[in-house]
Amino acid sequence: MPNMDISFLEKLDPMSPLYFERFDAFKSFTDQKKRILEWISDRFEDEIVSHLLGAEVKTGNVTLSVLGIGSGDGKAEVKMLMHLMKKFRLVEFTVVEPSADEITSFKKLVEEQKKALNGVTFHWRQESLQDFCKANADGSKRFHFVSALHSLYFIQNKDLDFYLKTIFGWTEGKMLIMQGAVNSIFSGLDKGFPSTSNPLRPFKLGNKIEDSLKTLGISFETSVIPSECDITCCFDSDSRDGKLLLDFFLHVVRCGDNGPPQLLKMIKEYLNTEGISYTRHGRLYAPVPTQVIIASTSKRF
Ligand SMILES: C[S@@+](CC[C@H](N)C(=O)[O-])C[C@H]1O[C@@H](n2cnc3c(N)ncnc32)[C@H](O)[C@@H]1O
Repeated sequence: MPNMDISFLEKLDPMSPLYFERFDAFKSFTDQKKRILEWISDRFEDEIVSHLLGAEVKTGNVTLSVLGIGSGDGKAEVKMLMHLMKKFRLVEFTVVEPSADEITSFKKLVEEQKKALNGVTFHWRQESLQDFCKANADGSKRFHFVSALHSLYFIQNKDLDFYLKTIFGWTEGKMLIMQGAVNSIFSGLDKGFPSTSNPLRPFKLGNKIEDSLKTLGISFETSVIPSECDITCCFDSDSRDGKLLLDFFLHVVRCGDNGPPQLLKMIKEYLNTEGISYTRHGRLYAPVPTQVIIASTSKRF
């Protein structure tokens, strides 16, 4: 495996429009979101909703309090809400999402589903989790269910225990965390092309979160949702999508245009290695599995 430090490339700021341009490119070449939405359709009621009832949050008598961390365009959250609403008439949903554009998309979706979401009160907080933690330092906002889907990568490893402990201090019930799983192309590229100076690369894998939960003594169950990304366009040097995808994988800006040719050659060779990617119907795919972590607290409030 190659090992080349890419710290010299311009870093991708996860709050910037440049990030979302690259995230959109990724979304259009992967079935990851589709698989996650299928998991919500098939598993969410058994894995989450029934346990919230088990935690004695009684149907009808209580307003279910939900926190979404980095909810993005809200597609997954709205789907989860539809399942929650089969059991809970009233829901308070706090959305912590720093991107104004993503909040606008989420609000649009809520407007489209207005009738079905009657009974849900949204609290829109356009801020980072870090800022929300400061604002809720007294723990006055508490939650029965917290979701963080592919959104905890922005927490630096050294701060992970602190943030998970803080979130769990507010939670009675379940937290659903989804994050990249171990054999994802992201983790392979992170090992082969490390960036020692960009602690915000989105390669915090699910196992890192599991380690932190173990340290904190929080019980959890884990499983994997397989998915893949079509990376064929990364090999077409004229493809804008290919360049955006490479940037997204490496968490840098304009790697395709500004990366030294030798580095690009090594990255492409790595992406085309057996065991890292595979071919189907003449197209090249890389695995981007999602680790599902369902953590529980039995504490009451
Ligand atoms: C990869 S996207 C995932 C979005 C959504 N959860 C989904 O599954 O489609 C990551 C999200 O985390 C948000 N985010 C980035 N930094 C954050 C922070 N410090 N606190 C909370 N959310 C953050 C981004 O704005 C983005 O919406």
